[in-house]
Amino acid sequence: MLRIPLARPSWDDEMRQAAIAALDSKQWVKGQQNIAFGQSFADYCGALAATPCQNGSVALWAALQIAEISSGDEVIVPSLTFIASATAIPLAGANAIFVDVDEYYCMDYQAVKEAITERTKAVIAVHLFGQVIDPRIVELCHQKQLVLIEDAAQAHGATIINSAGEKTYTGAIGDIACFSFFPSKNMAVGGEGGMITTTKQIYSERLNSIVNHGRSSRVEAQQLGSNLRMSEVSAAIGVIQLTRLDQWLQHRRYIANKYLQECKSNTKLNLPKVRENSQHAWHQFCILVEDENAFIKHMDEHLIDARVHYPNPCHKQPVFSDHPQHQADFTMTDLICKKLVAIPIFHEMRADEINRVISALNSY
Ligand SMILES: Cc1ncc(COP(=O)(O)O)c(C=O)c1O
Repeated sequence: MLRIPLARPSWDDEMRQAAIAALDSKQWVKGQQNIAFGQSFADYCGALAATPCQNGSVALWAALQIAEISSGDEVIVPSLTFIASATAIPLAGANAIFVDVDEYYCMDYQAVKEAITERTKAVIAVHLFGQVIDPRIVELCHQKQLVLIEDAAQAHGATIINSAGEKTYTGAIGDIACFSFFPSKNMAVGGEGGMITTTKQIYSERLNSIVNHGRSSRVEAQQLGSNLRMSEVSAAIGVIQLTRLDQWLQHRRYIANKYLQECKSNTKLNLPKVRENSQHAWHQFCILVEDENAFIKHMDEHLIDARVHYPNPCHKQPVFSDHPQHQADFTMTDLICKKLVAIPIFHEMRADEINRVISALNSY
């Protein structure tokens, strides 16, 4: 019996041919594939514009640059997230203000409201594990004139649905959004990759320039930027992967629903909740358990990978040892961070693998 991993990327002939065609063209950078990938991704999200870049981490730095966040500015971010959401802020010269998460594991609306000061310029709202943020945060940022940067690294294709039944996709919920195409993500590009999207004209004019040394022409640099461009091979693979995203999301949602339905009577498993009026992208399926080591050992005995996400919240990481909130207590984050365990969910998961996970969960 083979081990079931947490994630497995997809690769097929059409992607292989697109990659080879990009190489054969010898236009390895700055070509049509990047333009096509940016355009099709913006169209998918309903954003005004999108620019491919090297990864989700530089996308966050670029977003802060575009929004002109700098020294002395405060940017609010949840502490329960991948470290890149937080380190982008001091890398841009600004101060990170950490907040707790809600019962859906995304930043808590009330905590964000209370963290706003006259120095607050932006909020990095992480759609953690593929769950969309509390929509009241969108309204709050609007009222307080704060730039809302979505960290959508884990949430390609997640949506909020309004009372008229209209969907807004991640990437078009805030002012600027950042995606990652790391191989384990909901879609990938055959290596490292990221995307920056925006819904605002003012930022769209700066998107292409920020990934290209901040240049407005070959000889003139208007803003601080760097070479953050994506290769043409990666963009060509991304174009094809994006056409599969809806079908893949459908399968992720099918698996999540099966886990939720078939394991609901096991009282040792605290299963994730989906926010009302939203569609989860199920990048991770995380279960809250009392004894994480016993649970991981149990899954391991059934040859199934499981891992805690994220045991060490950002504000407690050594990199933030001088941060004023380094010793701060966050009720929800403290309660769950060591006990939230991710189990396998990926778009190529076969029926036998899904059933093996369900029977392992129910025998715990
Ligand atoms: C929430 C979040 N933000 C940012 C990133 C950074 O993306 P990348 O690995 O492409 O730099 C990740 C990647 O794992 C992530 O999960």
